[in-house]
Amino acid sequence: MNPSNQVYSVIWHNDSVSLIDQTRLPNEYTFVEIHRCEDMAQAIKTMIVRGAPAIGVAAAYGMYLGAREIKTENRDEFLRSLEKVAQMLRSTRPTAVNLFWAISRTLKAAYETLGTVEEIKQTLLETAQSIQAEDLQTCQTIGDNGLKLLPKTPEKLTLLTHCNAGALATAGYGTALGVVRSAWREGRLTRVFADETRPRMQGAKLTTWECVQEGIPVTLITDSMAAHCMKQGMIHAVVVGADRIAANGDTANKIGTYSLALVARAHNVPFFVAAPMSTIDFSIPDGGAIPIEERDPVEIYQVGDTVLTPAGVEFYNPAFDVTPANLITAIITENGNFAPAELRQFQVKQLV
Ligand code: MRU
Repeated sequence: MNPSNQVYSVIWHNDSVSLIDQTRLPNEYTFVEIHRCEDMAQAIKTMIVRGAPAIGVAAAYGMYLGAREIKTENRDEFLRSLEKVAQMLRSTRPTAVNLFWAISRTLKAAYETLGTVEEIKQTLLETAQSIQAEDLQTCQTIGDNGLKLLPKTPEKLTLLTHCNAGALATAGYGTALGVVRSAWREGRLTRVFADETRPRMQGAKLTTWECVQEGIPVTLITDSMAAHCMKQGMIHAVVVGADRIAANGDTANKIGTYSLALVARAHNVPFFVAAPMSTIDFSIPDGGAIPIEERDPVEIYQVGDTVLTPAGVEFYNPAFDVTPANLITAIITENGNFAPAELRQFQVKQLV
């Protein structure tokens, strides 16, 4: 990858956090400066920053920003206030487990720091920085691990992805788009097809933007075109990201992922989920227990200034769906590639 094209969704400056404003891409590449925890929570809610690992990184910095605002020098009082900061950040978006994982990790680091309040604040900053650095490394490993699974074909590959699971959605490089990037770097990719991803259009606005930045040939299709493309033999494999993977491998990801998995199965096209281990939630036995965010219906009834529907229509706008494990060919992680049922070995390791 050309380092000058590297996209970082979250950047820590000495005093504040810069977020790429993902609501304005691709027309404007601008940054929002975040100084306060409350503003970070709002940025996550309004999807200025989005994508499971990226909101984890953003929330970790949010914990530090919130800690900085706590004025007491008393450790117990400080930790009580920090719990409130954690609660505010947790209430932003319910589905992506990386958010909760990052908040728990920073809280744990705070409790385990036995020094002064100032020292705890420093630990929080360092923990956020570690989460960010580790995620970047993790994504690069995921990208390279994915290469091992891609079909061996005489011709170069065409992959299909859904939503945006790229650098914008992570600390950099991406998960599903990380696999695309690695395949491109290794000369194994002809092009990537991007689903537009109704209703918020992360595929049309963000995935295509990232690909164009890097010179990866990208073809945009509407979500409803995937079956036709597979029937025509145009797609060698599907690679998507994940917001939360249950212990049995059921996977929540952007709405439309489930139908894509069904279509892939019907056409014998491998369906891969690429995600860091921090996206696996072993406390949830199967996908039925994954909380699914419902967003404002305006996302589906209005495009720009145009209202699409007559008065009197009702709406349902779930932001995610759950793909059953039996439709997933393999899960690509930084620890290797696994059939969904093989994930449980990590749960056992965590318990002993
Ligand atoms: O609502 P979003 O844009 O935050 O949803 C993002 C996705 O569904 C991604 O596929 C997922 O978070 C994985 S990002 C590496």
